[in-house]
Amino acid sequence: MQIFLDTANIDQIRQAAKLGIISGVTTNPSLVSKEGTADYEAVVKEICSIIPGPISVEVLVEGTQAMTQQAKLISSWAPNIVVKIPATSDGLEATSALAREKIKVNFTLCFSLNQALLGALAGATYVSLFVGRLDDAGHNGMEVVKDIVDVFAHYQLATQVIAASIRHPQHCVAAAKAGAHIATVPYKVLMQMIQHPLTDVGVTRFLGDWQRISKQ
Ligand code: G3P
Repeated sequence: MQIFLDTANIDQIRQAAKLGIISGVTTNPSLVSKEGTADYEAVVKEICSIIPGPISVEVLVEGTQAMTQQAKLISSWAPNIVVKIPATSDGLEATSALAREKIKVNFTLCFSLNQALLGALAGATYVSLFVGRLDDAGHNGMEVVKDIVDVFAHYQLATQVIAASIRHPQHCVAAAKAGAHIATVPYKVLMQMIQHPLTDVGVTRFLGDWQRISKQ
């Protein structure tokens, strides 16, 4: 399973990039707005220059024509951009049109197997299943991820499944076990993934033991 970083924060992206395990970044309008700038293009271009992998960038308009047109503009900002299109009927039409023109789409805001399947049939490169928001609504988001992964494998669909709206490290474990191709994680969750108190205790004990013998 690949790890994408789910943020538009440049410092977090730079920090995470140093770890050498980030394959891409996903953003959305809420994440970009949190950074306090209305210069969407500048933020996106900076992210694209830091991480060479796929960078998902969402359209900011509604309607098939407007989304398709804006998606083309956004995808021209950098070669590694994947355009995020919402899982609506307009979005499906836009995704089909963009896929025909070889523009990569992340079919986003998916909450069901049906939405994901339609996105894949339209030619989306990725579908993003919002696990945390489904859990919030009383469903089991990761079961939907597993169903999508199984169905895509059964029908040999090339579309990759992104477990998105990840809230805690157990979501990452479950995403990997469900066979998600990618989990896109907030920076805080990424840091939680590497932490274990027994590792810290072990490092302290190893170094302490070595210091005792090396001072004799
Ligand atoms: O990748 C989608 C993600 O940003 C949504 O997360 O926590 O707002 O549900 P959240």
